[in-house]
Amino acid sequence: MNMKVAVLGAAGGIGQALSLMLKNRLPKHSHLALYDIAPMTPGVAVDLSHIPTDVDIIGFSGDDPTPALVDADVVMISAGVARKPGMDRADLFSINAGIIKGIMEKIAAVCPTACIGIITNPVNSMVPVAKEVLSQKGVYDPAKLFGVTTLDVTRAKTFVGQCKKIDPTPLRIPVIGGHSGVTILPLLSQLGLDFTRAEVEMLTDRIRNAGTEVVDAKSGGGSATLSMGQAAGAFCLKLVNGLLGTPDLQICAYIDDGGQYAGFFAMPIVFGRNGIEKILPIGPLSDYEQEQFDQMLPILKSEIEQARQL
Ligand code: NAD
Ligand code: LMR
Repeated sequence: MNMKVAVLGAAGGIGQALSLMLKNRLPKHSHLALYDIAPMTPGVAVDLSHIPTDVDIIGFSGDDPTPALVDADVVMISAGVARKPGMDRADLFSINAGIIKGIMEKIAAVCPTACIGIITNPVNSMVPVAKEVLSQKGVYDPAKLFGVTTLDVTRAKTFVGQCKKIDPTPLRIPVIGGHSGVTILPLLSQLGLDFTRAEVEMLTDRIRNAGTEVVDAKSGGGSATLSMGQAAGAFCLKLVNGLLGTPDLQICAYIDDGGQYAGFFAMPIVFGRNGIEKILPIGPLSDYEQEQFDQMLPILKSEIEQARQL
């Protein structure tokens, strides 16, 4: 089966890094369609088209993503505005909710069975906004809608590797909850490594604030794009390979939890031929993690509730 992936927001910082990774690493015979309102988008596709892989690529700009969405199996969305120093992700709600709403209406009309990965912030609220629109259009499938929180896991691995002076690549660290501030909860107790309480607090805090670390370091030039492009690419490749039937591809993603925790929740899942094949248990929490979990839940619920105000 030939897979088609559409990247919306493709001319942006994340969109370009993500598209580069997908052009290089999607399975043979895949199709990659780029869309952005920016006029340079066809040019981004021409640029990437010179990379010799068996992935064809085309780019579209203008007001209508329809040509990019036709026959898409996966839609990755980084369309929207990024924050600047002094802003919270929640400050992006109004502008990005409007963008996500418009895109969801198009997806509902053009490729209603596609899997959708939302990168646009605030992820905690954008995914519920997407659910609202897809439900209103009668095409909502909870197994196919994801908030992309892979960067939190990427950072957790990196910072634990630095702290313990070990190779971070093989580490598996569940990061649950959401994707902003205290709603990001890494489960360091599940690693089988010995941490002092001070290390756990330092690492948890750094993982939670890593987005701000990048925003501040870029001094008004935007937020994480390259590490996020890599993280979104890793998410998308696993999703595509799951759709193609590769078994047991696990990842943490922000999904409809069916009312188990907050309504939406980042947790470990297994990809399959139809999106989410299995939701895995979050596993045991340490006393510290349970405390953080209890404090975070009402905040996450209120960020989810915000989506209903739209
Ligand atoms: P960017 O400004 O570099 O790119 C955004 C792109 O979206 C621009 O090219 C813009 O033209 C395009 N765009 C705007 N409205 C559009 C529309 N209606 N349709 C199609 N394209 C549209 O920003 P970026 O750094 O790529 O970040 C994009 C989003 O991703 C931001 O909201 C940011 O906060 C978020 N982000 C999320 C994570 C995460 O972990 N989920 C990590 C980093 C950034
Ligand atoms: C991140 O975690 O880097 C992103 O959510 C972007 C941001 O605004 O922090």
